[in-house]
Amino acid sequence: MWNGTTPLLEATRLRSGYATGDVLQGISIGIAEGEIVGVLGRNGVGKSTLLRTLIGLLPARGGAITLRGQDITREAAHSRARRGIGYVPQGREIFPHMSVLDNIRMGTFVGTSRSDRAGGPDFDLIYRHFPFLRDRHAQRGGTLSGGQQEMLAIARALVNRPDILLLDEPSDGVQPNIVEAIGDAILALNAERNLTVLVVEQNIDLVQKIVGRAYVLDKGRVVRELTADEIKNTARLAEYLAI
Ligand SMILES: Nc1ncnc2c1ncn2[C@@H]1O[C@H](COP(=O)(O)OP(=O)(O)OP(=O)(O)O)[C@@H](O)[C@H]1O
Ligand SMILES: [Mg+2]
Repeated sequence: MWNGTTPLLEATRLRSGYATGDVLQGISIGIAEGEIVGVLGRNGVGKSTLLRTLIGLLPARGGAITLRGQDITREAAHSRARRGIGYVPQGREIFPHMSVLDNIRMGTFVGTSRSDRAGGPDFDLIYRHFPFLRDRHAQRGGTLSGGQQEMLAIARALVNRPDILLLDEPSDGVQPNIVEAIGDAILALNAERNLTVLVVEQNIDLVQKIVGRAYVLDKGRVVRELTADEIKNTARLAEYLAI
């Protein structure tokens, strides 16, 4: 359960959607610094819509978003990135015809002022966690495997030194051993840098490996909050993922 301390990122009665109507029907969540929080729920319940609204790719139609208590509800996505919110979209959205290095560099453009302030883009961090990216600098992004592309998309967000990472289904289309490696990298970043993570996931193994607490969505609403113990119960977790 939410422990009541000041959240790093908080949404209150958040509403948003598309031309077809509202998807998020008033979502309230909070993520404290250093937490790894899950967003669960079956297809189409609004998980990606929630992340897109938190990063500012979709405008909020109601409610509020705060970062360290500061209202960012009306800020543009690039401003939120500069404040330290990193985003890895569902399906990765890397640039297949650009080199691996240029894909990583794309992350530095959006958050230039932030990475300047913090000492420049952090390539060392990326290569420490995903060393293969250094060896494949010149290769086109599209030639990497699905799992490697996911790591590239995570690296593109990490290069900008985010404080919180919003990850949308990092296991989607990724082979199991790479899902495992992605989970290890997220845990290591959390331990090493106190990186806060909000992760949308439907893969039970990855949820159980990395998530400490989770929200279950249904039809644009939070319908359950799961504790660490509830997440460890595989049969129960499978039910919640299919809610
Ligand atoms: N660009 C869009 N325009 C109109 N409706 C959309 C758009 N994107 C998503 N939707 C609709 O909004 C609802 C929520 O979609 P969303 O992508 O947030 O779900 P999700 O929980 O991320 O699903 P999934 O697990 O399949 O990724 C769905 O009914 C979907 O059809
Ligand atoms: Mg989605």
